Amino acid sequence: MSRLGILTSGGDAPGMNAAIRAAVKAANHHGLDVTGIQRGYQGLMEGDVRQLQFADVADFADKGGTILKTSRSLEFMEEAGRSKALRTLERLEINRLVVIGGEGSFKGAEKLHESGIQVIGIPGTIDNDLAYTDYSIGFDTTLNTVLECIGRIKDTDSSHDKTTIIEVMGRYCGDVALYSALAGGGEIISTPEQKLGFAEICSQLQERIVAGKHDNLIIVTERMYSLPELQQYIEEELHVSVRTTVLGFIQRGGNPSAFDRVLAGRMGVKAVELLLEGVSGQAVGMKENKLIHKAFRDIHAETADKQEQYQLLATLL
Ligand code: F6P
Repeated sequence: MSRLGILTSGGDAPGMNAAIRAAVKAANHHGLDVTGIQRGYQGLMEGDVRQLQFADVADFADKGGTILKTSRSLEFMEEAGRSKALRTLERLEINRLVVIGGEGSFKGAEKLHESGIQVIGIPGTIDNDLAYTDYSIGFDTTLNTVLECIGRIKDTDSSHDKTTIIEVMGRYCGDVALYSALAGGGEIISTPEQKLGFAEICSQLQERIVAGKHDNLIIVTERMYSLPELQQYIEEELHVSVRTTVLGFIQRGGNPSAFDRVLAGRMGVKAVELLLEGVSGQAVGMKENKLIHKAFRDIHAETADKQEQYQLLATLL
């Protein structure tokens, strides 16, 4: 019988379990046995695996994190590490693989594809930084979590006429910050795609204060600023009270939203169907609510056009 392997890699994202569940269900339906590979590529190199039946995953669609665990493996980036992984696949007679993860995970998947393993990727990352797909699994849940946190901070900011800098995740992509602000979450936003300098942030804040808005949220993507320096700069320039909140890993956990569960279900089934059709070296995505699939090599080069969203933001803020 043909055997399918499945692993999650990189940062966990809510909805990964729903994707595992869907892939296992689809594989069993088509008569494939499934091996769950634990801790991503690290576990693949070490042969850390367990057999998965649908009963093992049936109740996990609503759980955050990943039941297969995950890792960021430096060893797998090296030729020697990948040879180990290939030996595990050969020993376990796994000839088809589903990789759920972000861009780094897809790079690893592409290498396995080039070594003759049949691989399909499923985008699982809260960052939404894969331009070939409108949404990656986990992003919607994270956005909802961020909005809930923002709402709480707004309550206290408005009670004290305070300004808060909120740092959100996203790695080098501003989508978590951008969509939070589009959903009505903040007054000033700075992302890698449209980065504001300290002086520009102060000038926008000053405009709002002059207009009578004394509680303001500044949403920034991680890795862009020294937050203590930014806070101090604003306080000294504008003589206002500023606080800083880094949302951190709160954004990555939690039960997946309905949107993420449905997206994961669709993508999990599609990944298995593509493998059965003989497709390899590609990742499933979604464009205009339709499932698509694209070669890993084309995915890496693609950049997102967020012009419409940023224009809308200019009107809304
Ligand atoms: O890619 C998901 C993500 O949460 C990013 O937003 C963040 O920059 C990174 O992972 C954090 O990585 P780690 O879990 O290795 O600290």
